Amino acid sequence: MGFKEKLKANLKEFLSEQELSILPKGFQTIGKIMILKLNPKLLDKKYRIGKACLELYPYIKSIYINLGKIKGKFREPEKIELIAGEDNPIVEHKEHGVIYRFDLTKIMFSKGNLNERKLLATLVKDGEVVVDMFAGIGYFSLPIAKNSSPERIYSIELNPFSYKFFVENIKLNHLEDIIIPIMGDCKEEVLKLSKKGIKADRVIMGVFPAPKAFIKDGLSLAKGDGSVYHYEGVVEKEKYTELFDEFNQIAEENKCSCKLISHRFVKSYGPNLYHVVLDIRVSEKN
Ligand SMILES: C[S@@+](CC[C@H](N)C(=O)[O-])C[C@H]1O[C@@H](n2cnc3c(N)ncnc32)[C@H](O)[C@@H]1O
Repeated sequence: MGFKEKLKANLKEFLSEQELSILPKGFQTIGKIMILKLNPKLLDKKYRIGKACLELYPYIKSIYINLGKIKGKFREPEKIELIAGEDNPIVEHKEHGVIYRFDLTKIMFSKGNLNERKLLATLVKDGEVVVDMFAGIGYFSLPIAKNSSPERIYSIELNPFSYKFFVENIKLNHLEDIIIPIMGDCKEEVLKLSKKGIKADRVIMGVFPAPKAFIKDGLSLAKGDGSVYHYEGVVEKEKYTELFDEFNQIAEENKCSCKLISHRFVKSYGPNLYHVVLDIRVSEKN
């Protein structure tokens, strides 16, 4: 029996036929927490629905409902609310050999980016220097450090709350020798790295909307013989080349040449909108 059928059977004495028909079909779990999206017409029954979920899945400790989107420059969840069980939103999620510890009510964690988190680690070659400009809690830095052999990863994060968990996660995964966490605005921090003579084999620019305002400063890390930039954005499927064109134009203006090596659509982001990643080879022109 599927989730919705089980819920319906549990709640048939408490909800009307109409309400039973709009119960959620599925749920997300992170650690021992279940996250539900509820039809707004069910919100006045949320506590009863939460109780039913706990009864159905005894290994789950808490039920939260997601009432908003991921918003703002820190990419934070708008509203995630407890409806049943323990009031403890700190989770430990294990993935690709990495433990991610974070507060799920304040920090995003997209299951849709799972393959991208895995893939980036497979692209990194032994001894590379990587700069992760929008590190968050270590979404990319941790799996790269754990599953490949870079020389160093410089990882920059602006949100102090995410940064605190990132530092904790580096220790939890025993990656202190590889990852150097930096708290600050990557626009300034990349220039500081570059002034110290640090150049990157690989630069990760993983944030929405596409971080166009950060391209110029990010290019200061490019090596003469070429660096790979992973540039994210949200586009209509057939228009991904426009995202490359905007990157390329800024690169040309800053004496760098670019080549689009590959692109991939990570997840759907709305009607005909996709989260895309471009892999761009950038070389400093002499
Ligand atoms: C959460 S990740 C994005 C993950 C993924 N690309 C997505 O949205 O699906 C982006 C991180 O960049 C951080 N950030 C935003 N602006 C920044 C800046 N100027 N410098 C450094 N970090 C920044 C945010 O706080 C956030 O933790």
